[in-house]
Amino acid sequence: MRDSMSQSPWDFGIDKELEMVETRLQKMVESEEKILTEASMHVIGAGGKRIRPTIAILSYRSLGGEDVEKIVDIAAGFELIHSATLVHDDINDGGSTRRGRETVYRRYGLHNAIVTGDFLFVKAFSLGGMYDKEVVRTTADACARLAEGEMVQSRYRHTLGLDLESYVQIMERKTAEPLKAGAMVGAYLAGGTLEETRCLGTYGLNLGVAFQIMDDVLDFVGDESRMGKPIGSDLKEGYLTLPSLLSMKDSNKAKEVITGIIKQEDPSEEDVRRCIDIVIDSGGVEKAKAMAEFYGMEALQHLGCLPNTEFSEALRDIVSRVLERDS
Ligand code: IPE
Ligand code: IPE
Ligand code: MG
Ligand code: MG
Repeated sequence: MRDSMSQSPWDFGIDKELEMVETRLQKMVESEEKILTEASMHVIGAGGKRIRPTIAILSYRSLGGEDVEKIVDIAAGFELIHSATLVHDDINDGGSTRRGRETVYRRYGLHNAIVTGDFLFVKAFSLGGMYDKEVVRTTADACARLAEGEMVQSRYRHTLGLDLESYVQIMERKTAEPLKAGAMVGAYLAGGTLEETRCLGTYGLNLGVAFQIMDDVLDFVGDESRMGKPIGSDLKEGYLTLPSLLSMKDSNKAKEVITGIIKQEDPSEEDVRRCIDIVIDSGGVEKAKAMAEFYGMEALQHLGCLPNTEFSEALRDIVSRVLERDS
């Protein structure tokens, strides 16, 4: 169960379902190897927004899915996949804090963190494997895309070669495809038509891009304690993201400073701070937010195929929540 101090601030009227997801998560990470359970609960118990299970459940509900048991396992599976990627991502990005806690690899060591990530992935698939072929394929494809996205992103690390098209492709793969898959699986399990399933998938994809753009924006202007992870880490780790990319296009000064940071192995805190200020001053953050809004609007347009219910309303609300989020 999540610690009480870390209740999700994202409330979309599906508390009962999410409570069932929490129980499933906790059950799944039980192991005779105590350290696996402990390290898994270190990340899962620290909270998080649970946006992935939320989307899967709301998609299911929005198309009339009634039997909660039918969606809970796969919804928990998506959160386990996400937890696995967080554990591994923090190793790759050298992250020190996650969900307000020391990261798993810092606390339990590199080896234990790698195995914990694998453990979480496998547990996700033991949940997903109980479903029919269509669900398994959709979920597995999304995981493969996620891994591909990470590979493409790492190819651009410490380089200035990233363009807008490649940036969006990375966002789609590493973040949006799993959200799309959750939405599609929810629709499919509810017995939605092909058209409805596709619509919700496109909603999830566009929402996911907006969500990751906002994550990248918050890496410039977020509050560390609200985010539960360090700010400025993308620049520090040598990644160009949308705000820096857009400010480089418009300002030579920004381009010069960003180039200096991106190419360095370990830039100083002061240099990163100065670079953040320049990106903000040259309008990079505002323009990135505008692009997130564009994807948010796209997401909304694809909800038109749903019957009007409290659940379709909640899917709509998620879009504004994602665009306004500060955590
Ligand atoms: C963090 O995901 C990694 C990204 C894909 C941006 P979330 O922002 O959903 O993290 P939690 O689950 O709420 O902690
Ligand atoms: C992570 O993206 C995406 C994953 C699929 C894990 P980030 O590297 O931007 O996520 P944070 O900012 O560390 O949460
Ligand atoms: Mg990271
Ligand atoms: Mg980030």
